[in-house]
Amino acid sequence: MTEPMVIAAGLKKRFGAVPALRGVSFSVRAGELYGLVGPDGAGKTTTLRLLSGVMGPDEGTVSVAGAVPLTADPEVRRRLGYMPQQYSLYGDLSIDENLTFFARLFGLDRATFAAQRARLLDITRLGRFVGRRAAALSGGMYKKLALACALLPKPSVLLLDEPTNGVDPVSRRELWALLFELVDDGMAVVVSTAYMDEAERCHRVGLLHDGRVLLEGVPGELMAAGGSETFEDLFLDAVRRAA
Ligand SMILES: Nc1ncnc2c1ncn2[C@@H]1O[C@H](COP(=O)(O)OP(=O)(O)O)[C@@H](O)[C@H]1O
Ligand SMILES: [Mg+2]
Repeated sequence: MTEPMVIAAGLKKRFGAVPALRGVSFSVRAGELYGLVGPDGAGKTTTLRLLSGVMGPDEGTVSVAGAVPLTADPEVRRRLGYMPQQYSLYGDLSIDENLTFFARLFGLDRATFAAQRARLLDITRLGRFVGRRAAALSGGMYKKLALACALLPKPSVLLLDEPTNGVDPVSRRELWALLFELVDDGMAVVVSTAYMDEAERCHRVGLLHDGRVLLEGVPGELMAAGGSETFEDLFLDAVRRAA
């Protein structure tokens, strides 16, 4: 077995009086799509922010691609793609100009950028719209452009915070198809969602509630073991038992 690409071990994080995470642990391997599933306030964003290294935990440890993101050098950090919930693109810049801007930011050389630009426009199907300003894109296209920008440096780990929140159903399906292409190519992907239908699609899920992982495993197996008819029932039963 290969080593996990993402390891969260006993993560605790408090904001003043609010314990956002009370001991969150899970791991994700290359080629695996892991879902962090839970309602608003469960701790999904905090978990992803700790994994991305924008802040450190109060307790516990994070390892991504074998390094500690908070202190890793830029070379290592480029192996980690992070798409926050509010991903800021430049509204006045076109799709192409946004890609160019982020490529410079990531320090991509010309040849790598050319190859990545072609590939990413292809897999996101944004190629026909390269001249369109980001501010004029639909919600789904905007998310796809944000994803393309996050993927520019060819990360081996991708963290996405509710990427389909507020996205229409067709674009939602396209985004998920895209995520599966990425994991099929060997990426380790962690995606947070509050949508139960999306939870069921993940290879493995952690059901997060009130800063704790209540249940973890393969969606179909969890449903069978819990005798739940729907994933929603499974989640609500787990919450009830934890109360
Ligand atoms: N910067 C912050 N300051 C104060 N409280 C915060 C902060 N970030 C998150 N929280 C609190 O921590 C808990 C978990 O939040 P969050 O990780 O954003 O959950 P989710 O992404 O699942 O909605 C919530 O109670 C939230 O209000
Ligand atoms: Mg959130």
